[in-house]
Amino acid sequence: MITGSQTDEAEVVETASAKINLALHVTGQRADGYHLLDSIVTFATDAFDRLSFLPADRDSFTLGGRFGPLLSPEATGQDGNLVLKARDLLRAALAGEGVSMPPVAIRLEKNLPVASGIGGGSADAAATLRGLLRFWGASLPEDALFALALRLGADVPMCLSSRPLRARGIGEDIVALPAMPALSMVLANPMKGVSTPEIFRRLQEKNNSPIGATPTGSDTTEWIALLASARNDLEPSARASLPEIAEISQMLSESGALLIRMSGSGATCFGLYVDHAAAEAAATRLSRKRPDWYFQATRTA
Ligand code: C5P
Repeated sequence: MITGSQTDEAEVVETASAKINLALHVTGQRADGYHLLDSIVTFATDAFDRLSFLPADRDSFTLGGRFGPLLSPEATGQDGNLVLKARDLLRAALAGEGVSMPPVAIRLEKNLPVASGIGGGSADAAATLRGLLRFWGASLPEDALFALALRLGADVPMCLSSRPLRARGIGEDIVALPAMPALSMVLANPMKGVSTPEIFRRLQEKNNSPIGATPTGSDTTEWIALLASARNDLEPSARASLPEIAEISQMLSESGALLIRMSGSGATCFGLYVDHAAAEAAATRLSRKRPDWYFQATRTA
């Protein structure tokens, strides 16, 4: 688990790691419209937002980082909203147990592209829950925390642990994958936001096969063979609405990636490389080609 760090006496800091769907099969649809998924998910160790929590006279929320200017501190932005929603839901849940929590100044350093399929908003919400529990010195039973996370979004519970996992249901039926080896990759985003509901709506085939059995050991070749046999079923509809996804996949391919795939509902794609040096060299070359796009080399959890 990625644990937060205590920077000074009063400040609590949490990282919110990018979530990467290494494979994502859509296997059905619930009566309420939500889609049933089968997804192998991991988290980036070198691509994350950072949240800090400080004592204050009244609640506040400020933004920084490369993509902070894209969000509104008044919380009209998608990600900003989830941080404040998480704070308010958690405070209400604790108040329900008879504990009143003091004001908090929250700062979000937004380093991950917004609406980009790597769960930045979900990771921020999960990190807010983890960080505020530490900041307030409070605790909730695990199942209550999980339920609260799920109310914030289908991907928020999986972001609580930030460890490799397989998710089924709408994303809330989670099994940890402790044997998954760390992988070296480049995350690549063409700086265009994607609407998740729209990509799901455009989906043609909703009853696809599940992903095969995951290896029991930690052999990288076996894991990559499994991933190569899998897909992201949202990729065709995302590619149809955003031609840059094909362009960025081509760039990753030319840079020597072994496997290239889109994460979540896009538009971020990842390329896997033989080792971290190859991933870093590729990220540097790709950034030179398109300085306006997002390329980040990272290992996975
Ligand atoms: O749960 P969350 O707010 O992150 O989901 C955003 C939207 O994505 C939902 O309103 C729904 O349209 C779509 N979605 C889905 N099936 C899922 C997860 C999300 O259809 N399993």
